[in-house]
Amino acid sequence: MVQLTLPKNSRITTGKTWPKPSGATNLRAFKIYRWNPDDEANPRVDTYFIDMDKCGPMVLDALIKIKNEIDPTLTFRRSCREGICGSCAMNIDGINTLACIYGLDEIKGDVKIYPLPHMPVVKDLIPDLTHFYAQHASVMPWLETKTNRPAKEWKQSIEDRKKLDGVYECVMCACCSTSCPSYWWNGDRYLGPAALLHAYRWIVDSRDEATGERLDQLEDPFKLYRCHTIMNCTKTCPKGLNPAKSIAEIKKMMLERTV
Ligand code: SF4
Ligand code: SF4
Ligand code: FES
Repeated sequence: MVQLTLPKNSRITTGKTWPKPSGATNLRAFKIYRWNPDDEANPRVDTYFIDMDKCGPMVLDALIKIKNEIDPTLTFRRSCREGICGSCAMNIDGINTLACIYGLDEIKGDVKIYPLPHMPVVKDLIPDLTHFYAQHASVMPWLETKTNRPAKEWKQSIEDRKKLDGVYECVMCACCSTSCPSYWWNGDRYLGPAALLHAYRWIVDSRDEATGERLDQLEDPFKLYRCHTIMNCTKTCPKGLNPAKSIAEIKKMMLERTV
């Protein structure tokens, strides 16, 4: 899948080509987007070379190697290295994915790495996710209850718990929302697939007692209905989730309550 790879307001120039490591026989080139808010220069793409005989198998291994051994100014987010925290999301070889679980052997030729598309950039590979997180918060991503708190716990049947499979696993990496054309053009008002998947996760939770309120909040020409079922979100999700299906389920619920 080919996606637009330019972050907002970028005119990219060719950057520095760093020296090849001496004595290496298994070289690979990495072309990486660089932008520093402090130097007033245009974004550029720097080229680094890595000896693949001395590098781990994942894209994040290569980035860490570059930062540790070649260029300490290269900036990116990462934490868990297990595909759990969602922080290493970036555009790799034209695909929004998690660098820590994306294998270098899945890429042919030079490895091209950009920040997630259509987001403001803080520095290098780090997108500004402030608005994305605010949209997540707006769907009340927590259990809302009105009845008295039970003595021990809010119970849920095995069948009802199963309804959360495929939605609770989201790691909020933003790969889906930043691959969605509707979100690119209307991200100020359209909530995007990640926030809508989370909205659905609480709508469908049998313990939640604010379903009507949640649906009321989404009854809006932009927040929900800007999804045109293009499916980029589902194709790109590195956790194998299906936000487009969650969105379709919410739309179905909207319809059902009007008949
Ligand atoms: S299915 Fe909806 S949310 Fe997913 S990419 Fe398409 S328009 Fe965006
Ligand atoms: S649905 Fe998938 S791509 Fe979207 S934020 Fe969650 S884990 Fe990331
Ligand atoms: S480092 Fe946590 S998901 Fe990649």
